[in-house]
Amino acid sequence: MRIDIISIFPEYFTPLEVSLVGKARERGILDIRLHQLRDWTHDVHKTVDDTPYGGGPGMVMKPEVWGEAIDAVIAQGGPEGAGLPRMIVPTPSGRPFTQRVALEYAREPWLLFTPARYEGIDARVVDEYRSRLRVDEVSIGDYVLAGGEAAVLVIVETVARLLPGVIGNAQSVADDSFAPGPMENLLEGPVYTKPPVWRGHPVPEILLSGHHARIARWRRDQALRRTFEMRPDLIARLDPESLDERDREVLAECRERHEAAAFRAGPQSMAD
Ligand code: ADE
Repeated sequence: MRIDIISIFPEYFTPLEVSLVGKARERGILDIRLHQLRDWTHDVHKTVDDTPYGGGPGMVMKPEVWGEAIDAVIAQGGPEGAGLPRMIVPTPSGRPFTQRVALEYAREPWLLFTPARYEGIDARVVDEYRSRLRVDEVSIGDYVLAGGEAAVLVIVETVARLLPGVIGNAQSVADDSFAPGPMENLLEGPVYTKPPVWRGHPVPEILLSGHHARIARWRRDQALRRTFEMRPDLIARLDPESLDERDREVLAECRERHEAAAFRAGPQSMAD
C-alpha cells in the first residue's frame, strides 16, 4: 500500500518509523511518503492560512496551496494499476472512523491524507477533489485535536496492522473488538501471562485448565460483561441473532446486577 501525507509538520510522523508500521515499511508492504505543504507556497513567508470570510476566530488554510500540493502528489502517480488515491481529510466534523472503515481502507492501494491545522481547510478544496477522487472527511472521536496529524497517525496505524503480512498471527486481527464476526460490538476481556500468582493475584483457574472450548466460552462471558459495563451503547447494537443461550444468560445477569445496584443507590439513579 502507498500512503502520501501532506502536512505543514512532516516531522510529526516520525512514529511511523518504529514498531509495526516501521517494520512494514522496511519490508516493502507499506510505502509512506511525506510532503511539506509549504513547498507549494509562493511567498517569502510560505503562508498557508488566512482570515475566515464572514469573520470569526482563528485562521483557515488557503485553497490554492492545497490545490497545488494535491495535484502535484497525484501527478507523481501511485502503485501500478492503482488509478487515483482515496483522499482522507481528518476533521472533527467528519464521519466517525471505525474498524469497519479501517478494513475498507486496508483494501485500497493508495491513500492520500491531508491533515489540517488552524480552523481547517477552505471547504472548496474538498468540493473540488470530490469531483475527481473519492474523498472522505473522517473524525477519530468526539474531541478536537490541535490538528489532523495525530488523527492520521491513528488511522495509519489501524490500517497498517490489517495489511496482509504485517501481523504474524492473522487470528489476532480476526479476534479484535469491533472486527466483523463473532466479536463485533464486543470489547475483549482481560488477558494474563506468567507468573500464575502475582502479588497475591492469581490468574483465573480456567485459563490454566487447557480446556479450549471452556476457555473460549469464559472469554466470551468476560467480553459480554466488560462491554455491558464499559459500553452499554454497544450492547444495544448487538445483533440478537448473534447471541446464543449462554450469551443471553450472561447479559440477563448483568442487567439484574445493574438494576439491583441502581435500586440500592436510590431513585435518582434509577432513571439511567
Ligand atoms: N482534527 C481535529 N480534531 C480531529 C478529530 N477528532 N478527528 C480527526 N481530525 C481532527
